[in-house]
Amino acid sequence: MSSQSQVRNVTLTTLHKIKERGEKFACLTAYDACFAGIASEAGVEVLLVGDSLGMVLQGHDSTLPVTMDDMVYHMQCVKRGNRGALLVADLPFMSYASETQTLENAAALMRAGAHMVKLEGGAWIENTTRLLAERGIPVCAHMGLTPQSVNRIGGFFVQGRDTAQAQAILQEAKVLQDAGASVLLLECVPRELAKLVTDSLDIPVIGIGAGPDTTGQIMVLHDVLGVSPITPKFVKNFLTESADGIPGALRKYVADVKSQAFPAEEHCFN
Ligand code: KIV
Repeated sequence: MSSQSQVRNVTLTTLHKIKERGEKFACLTAYDACFAGIASEAGVEVLLVGDSLGMVLQGHDSTLPVTMDDMVYHMQCVKRGNRGALLVADLPFMSYASETQTLENAAALMRAGAHMVKLEGGAWIENTTRLLAERGIPVCAHMGLTPQSVNRIGGFFVQGRDTAQAQAILQEAKVLQDAGASVLLLECVPRELAKLVTDSLDIPVIGIGAGPDTTGQIMVLHDVLGVSPITPKFVKNFLTESADGIPGALRKYVADVKSQAFPAEEHCFN
């Protein structure tokens, strides 16, 4: 079976089956049709139209300036290029502050082509998660380092390092699963905590800077290709190892996630 046929119409069921089999899946951000095509044909199962576009495309120093119009535009582009990956779109900063706003904005992203929306937060997004899930909109909850809260956190720091914070993340992850979240994304947490959360939940957990034990891994496209101005510890440039340019780099990323060669010890927080 070619890598292209392997990524045909990835659904939530596909991700759950991968988890049940004890295997791994690869996720990547995408913002346009061209890269969505290359990534999905390389075997990436989940494409995220992330609000990281505010930093890597627009040059902002945070994700806060990203608007719903930005997200809808890039979602439409990615949908046109996609070859069967599951498409997730971020609800940007302050776009889920009220029930009405949440439903309207999530619906706009789904109409633009998303199969799932992602929102940042812990227990405080419990009701929002339930609201969306009950209306048929799958939710990916994003915990750990939540970049939309960078000003409250005080910087892009690893989260869950002390026992109280780690326990809170585990407990709130369960709350969000019970509220109907279909997937959890954990960003920048110690690998031991990510393993504990992954083993404690029924839903697939996707990690970034969270070690090798989550069911899925996600990276920002520009980091995988080594064109981001900053390179955090958990980032790996796959282009340097590719004999076949960008398609080869993305195939190597997928292969390394599945074989668990990535993330390696040097990419983990302990
Ligand atoms: O917006 C984004 O790119 C993200 C990352 C965690 C992948 O949310």
